[in-house]
Amino acid sequence: MDKGIVEKIERIVGKEGYSTDIADRYAYGFDASIFHNSPDIVIQPRTTEQVSEIMKIADAGKIPVVPRGAGTGLCGSAVPIKGGIVLDMSRMDKIKEISVGDMWCIVEAGCVYNDVNAAIGKYGFQFPPSPGSAEAAQIGGMVALNASGMKAVKYGATRDFVLGLTFVKANGDIVHSGTKTIKDSSGYQLARLLVGSEGTLGVITEVILKMTTKPKAAASVLAAFDSPEDAGRCVSALIAKPLIPAACELMDRVSIEAVNTALKNPLPDCQALCIIEVDGEPEIVDKELKVVEEVAKSVGATQVTATHDKALIAKWSNARSSVMVALSSLKPGYSSVSLADDMVVPVSKIPDAVTAYQSIAKKYDVVIATYGHAADGNLHTKMLLDPLSADDWKRGEKAVSEIFDVTVALGGSVTGEHGVGISKAPDFQKERRTELETIKAIKKAMDPNNILNPGKLEQWEGSILRNLRYPCKEFM
Ligand code: LAC
Ligand code: ZN
Repeated sequence: MDKGIVEKIERIVGKEGYSTDIADRYAYGFDASIFHNSPDIVIQPRTTEQVSEIMKIADAGKIPVVPRGAGTGLCGSAVPIKGGIVLDMSRMDKIKEISVGDMWCIVEAGCVYNDVNAAIGKYGFQFPPSPGSAEAAQIGGMVALNASGMKAVKYGATRDFVLGLTFVKANGDIVHSGTKTIKDSSGYQLARLLVGSEGTLGVITEVILKMTTKPKAAASVLAAFDSPEDAGRCVSALIAKPLIPAACELMDRVSIEAVNTALKNPLPDCQALCIIEVDGEPEIVDKELKVVEEVAKSVGATQVTATHDKALIAKWSNARSSVMVALSSLKPGYSSVSLADDMVVPVSKIPDAVTAYQSIAKKYDVVIATYGHAADGNLHTKMLLDPLSADDWKRGEKAVSEIFDVTVALGGSVTGEHGVGISKAPDFQKERRTELETIKAIKKAMDPNNILNPGKLEQWEGSILRNLRYPCKEFM
């Protein structure tokens, strides 16, 4: 990076606030996806004003800027594919205000999800979207991706909790968008536009988050089934009751086998299962637990276990959270990769989706595990590939494209909770084709020099097999 630019950056953030060291640049070229590219400099701002000064320099020099939270994203949103600046937001980690009487808190972008919940939990509140990476995920990244997880079915995704936010535009202007009120009808909702923008429209530095009350009790049911169709019917029957569970995780045969192999059989040996959590006041939890048991039995569950036991619930939950890594241990030399990782379909289409993904796996001769937050229609697939084999990647890419086609044909979307980044960009462009022109116009208006996370989402061109983190020469 140009020496003069580095000197200017040092004047803003000090010697401790940036690095051009090759090891740091290499490390910040990753997120949790399959992609990698090193930036030219990593900057760790401490204030919105510092971010503003940095953006002015970047805009003048047309230097790409990629804002980054914890780097737990799975589709390449934080990988700086055009080099330039990575803005590591983790030093902006202050919880600035908690207003229990107003139902909100104000947090900086680098605050960690679990830390925010620990702080507001003392007052009986929660911020519940619960991403899988709750221990590390940062609020700015969650907003940028509209992240969520197991609890979204009952409580909603990150977007449902953003009352307002502060962001820095590409030209360095600081914008305070939204309000400290629960309702707001004052025209365009710019804060909402930033939700899911993946760092392409501005750098989020502070967020006003709505809080909701923490449930007093929780309990879970594990139901085993002879087929994914039966498990899918269980989910639809539950919702139709109506009973909205706090979480409802479905796992297919491959996922169960992977976890049971890696973790000494925490789950029953079956074709498919659902782990269903209910929460609320203790009496309601008891009532709903019985309803869940009845519904599971009525659709043909072969085994139903209901429990309030926190240790058993934690064991199931840990088993479910381990699918991604457990899959890698099924075949030596192979890795579990996130390609088509978080499709979402109408809940009634879950059985069709699971069956279709399984036949696509057969057709392309790849191992695919399907699991996810079935009650909101959100399914994850993880594919087992030899990451050094170009042929495996090519077959994987074809399978992924077919998975996305089936998903959209079922009335779904290519991403329910992880964002678009790189791995879903071509199919996002297909799915959102009637919106693309408007999306491009918004991007141009907010970032005329195209410096904010350039080359992603609507700007990605061609195959997703570029900038791979694995030493597979054809795609590095
Ligand atoms: C999960 C993350 C990967 O649900 O979304 O496990
Ligand atoms: Zn998930």
